[in-house]
Formats: sequence, structure tokens, C-alpha cells
Amino acid sequence: MAIEISRDDIETQLAVCRRLRRRFEAGGRQPLALVDTYGCQQNEADSERLRGYLAEMGCTFTTDENAADIIVINTCAIREHAEQRFLGNLGALTHTKRRHPGQIVAVCGCSVQRPEMAERIKRSFRLVDLAFGPHALWRFPELLERRLDGGSRVFDLSGAPGSIAEGVPVVRQGSVKAWLSVMYGCNNFCSYCIVPYVRGRERSRRPEEILAEARQLVADGYKDITLLGQNVNSYGRDLGTGINFARLLRMINDIPGDFVIRFMTSHPKDATEELFRAMAECEKVERHIHLPLQSGSDRILRAMNRVYDSEKYRSLVELARSLMPDIVITTDIIVGFPGETAEDFEDTMRMVERVRYDAMFTFIFSPREGTPAAKMPDDTPRSEKLERFDRLLELANRISAEKHAEYLGKTVRVLVDGESGDELFPLTSRTKGGRLVHLRGGRELIGRFIDVRITDARTWALFGEQA
Ligand code: SAH
Ligand code: SF4
Ligand code: F3S
Repeated sequence: MAIEISRDDIETQLAVCRRLRRRFEAGGRQPLALVDTYGCQQNEADSERLRGYLAEMGCTFTTDENAADIIVINTCAIREHAEQRFLGNLGALTHTKRRHPGQIVAVCGCSVQRPEMAERIKRSFRLVDLAFGPHALWRFPELLERRLDGGSRVFDLSGAPGSIAEGVPVVRQGSVKAWLSVMYGCNNFCSYCIVPYVRGRERSRRPEEILAEARQLVADGYKDITLLGQNVNSYGRDLGTGINFARLLRMINDIPGDFVIRFMTSHPKDATEELFRAMAECEKVERHIHLPLQSGSDRILRAMNRVYDSEKYRSLVELARSLMPDIVITTDIIVGFPGETAEDFEDTMRMVERVRYDAMFTFIFSPREGTPAAKMPDDTPRSEKLERFDRLLELANRISAEKHAEYLGKTVRVLVDGESGDELFPLTSRTKGGRLVHLRGGRELIGRFIDVRITDARTWALFGEQA
């Protein structure tokens, strides 16, 4: 069972927020805060909690690091590239901070939880005032206060197995779409992946907490709720309540109101007929499944510790399509895993041709210190990995363009979810399967479900107007 942080502990943090607010007010100006987020939706959701705390302290928000009094960078460790970007941006803040003495720089999130990275920050990035991992996020106010009290730099990387904190305030990014974490952490230890090391073990939020938050979101007018977890399909196993993810979907679906439910991610090893049936039968659940394949080669899947083979994956796709012929299927694929041969890669290409994904997220293998795959012999030259990557991307684009072309002239129902910044098609919207449609029309349509006619289709997006 997960360690639950008590409501009293969160209350203590909120009291710190009130103390800090008085202190900032006494200083004569309202502090400006900037929260910069790398990584996945889980991190986006965490950043909304950081903003929640900052708002309780009386902060308003900015995107200008020169103006910010408090900068919080929420990092991602999934690939080396993400960490390099973070370190580059962090280094650049040295100048900003010199111009703005008293500016507080905090770094947090998955990358900071890696001991090697924490050490590096401690040694080489003196500008960092506080650093804490995902497990310490709930006590951010206390850490900040400690630093403001003139204490030494604060590093809090404890709590690796993980906890659950309910009642942390949230400032959400939009008014249409909302993230709703249903569980934290991961138990799967895919051999390439750092997430289980930095996010701790799988722990599910209690169904009543999730339902209460979902009801509140609907009451607040949110139209699009995305349930989050590294592997939502194993939701509830640790709770012993008998409520698995399929049942949870049905319970959220039963909340009255005009909204849609999405979720991610689904690990193929735990996707079941029960889940697909729940999706098919729940009118609010989007017919979209993000089902990461990672590789089409059984040998590589074994080396990745994915616990399914290509046959099982194929049968899942067939089952899902037999129950929901219009289902949108998206995936993640890693190219150039250690030992991946040309033949293994062809297996991946064949699988992609077969499934015909609606969208694919493709990555080149990035060795992560401390994971088994980082130690596996890897003799494929980088140039060859890049070649494979390009071929896969080309195939993904071709399939996406073909699928998009099928939409031309059709009328589809979408939820208008925001602005695109484009003059001709100023709105963005999503179809039931999560496809992006750029729209003509006015802002008053945001937050509404409307029928649109598709007038143009490109590789990555559709364009349309109200039908
Ligand atoms: N929990 C999700 C994945 C989260 S990470 C799942 O299992 O489906 C998102 C994606 O990043 C993964 O699906 C994988 O394709 C990719 N990824 C993870 N570790 C990686 C690494 N070391 N190198 C390259 N890509 C990686
Ligand atoms: Fe990483 Fe695998 Fe867990 Fe996904 S399921 S977060 S890829 S270990
Ligand atoms: Fe990155 Fe952490 Fe998410 S490593 S992908 S931010 S869980």
C-alpha cells in the first residue's frame, strides 16, 4: 500500500503558503512566478499543483524569466535530449539571476530525482536554490520557506518508493481540458526506461477521490478529462477495492454532464477485453487507445522486458477494432534498441503497415544510466539508427496522410478546445478519436461540441468549418 500523506500535512503546507503570502505582501509587491515544464502529461499535472501552491502564496504568473521572482523548472529524464535541453536552459539562467538578485531558482521532477543529476546540479549549478524530486513535490512550500529563511541550498530527493498526497491545490492551464491522475509510478521496469526509478512504485488513488475530482471538474465546466497513469490498465491492483480501470471508466462515465473522457497510457500486457468493452459501451469515453508497441520484433520485445509478443499485440488490435471499428490507435516506438538488427527493424515496419496507426511517436533509443538496457552491447552505428528512424517516420507520415485524406468532405463531431494562433483557422478542436482539426470560427465556440465539415487534410492535421 502507498504511503498516504495526511490532509493535516497538506494543511501544514497551506499554512506555510499563507505565511509566505504575508511575507511577500510585507515586501510590498506581489511575486511573479514562472513554471516551466518538460516531459509527459504527468509532469504537466504536477506543474498545475506547483502553480496551485504558488497561487496560494499570492504569486501571479509570467512566461518571462527576466521578470520572474520565482522560477520552477519541472524536468523530465526519459531521454538524454530532454535533460540536455533542461541543463542548457538552466545554465542560461545564470545571467538572468545575476540581473535579478534574489530570484529563486527551483528545479524539480524526474531528472532531479536521479542521484547523478542531483549531484551535478549541486556541484555545477550554484544558481539553483532548491531541488526536489517528484516525491517531495507536496512539501514544496516548506522547502521554499526554508531557503527564503536564509538556509543553505535545499536538496530533497527522499521518498523513492512514493506516496499519494490528496488535497494539494491546483491551478489548471485551460478551462476546457483537464488532467486527472488516477495513479502514480510504474512497476514494469521496461529495460530501457528510467520512470520506475524516479517515480517509484505503482500506487492508485482511491476511487472516491478520483470521482470527487471528476465531479468537480464537470461542475467547473471542463469538457475533456484525460485520466493519467504510466499504465492505467493496472489501476486499482494495489488497493484491493475490486475496482479495476474498466470499472473506474464506467463510474466516471456515469457522472452526469456533457464531457468526454480520455486516458493514457495503456500497456499492451494489461489491456483486456473488459477494458475494450467498457470503452465501447461508455458513451463519454473517446474511442482512442494509445497502445505503445515499442518494437515489432519478439526478440527485442523480450530484451525490453515488455512481457507481450507481436502476436498478442496484433490480437489486441483486432479485438479492439472488432468492438469499435472506428477506434483511433496511436503508439510509441523505439528505434535502435541495443542489438536491434535490420531484420528486427523490418518486423517493426511490417507491424506498422499492418496496424496502420493514426499517429505514432517515434524515438531513437537513449541509454539511461542505471537501467539494464544502458549496459547492453549496442553495435549498430548511429547513422544506421538514423536511417531506420527516417524510414519509420516516412511510413508514419504516409499512413497519417492517407488516413487524413479519407476525412475530406466528411462531417465529424469535435470539441473546440482552444486557439491555434493561425489567422485563417484560429481554433483548434479534437475529434472523438483525438484527431486535431483546425477550424474557422470565433472564440465563442471554445468549450463546445460542434459538427464540422473537413475541407482540407494535411499530414499532421485536418482543417474544417462548422457544418
Ligand atoms: N508508460 C508509458 C511510456 C512512458 S515514456 C508506456 O509504457 O507506454 C513514453 C515513451 O518514451 C515510451 O513509450 C518509449 O517509447 C519512450 N522511451 C522511454 N524510455 C526511452 C529511452 N530510454 N530511449 C528512447 N525512448 C524511450
Ligand atoms: Fe517506462 Fe515501461 Fe513503465 Fe512505461 S511501462 S513508464 S515504458 S517502465
Ligand atoms: Fe519524463 Fe518523468 Fe514523464 S521522466 S516522460 S516527466 S514520468
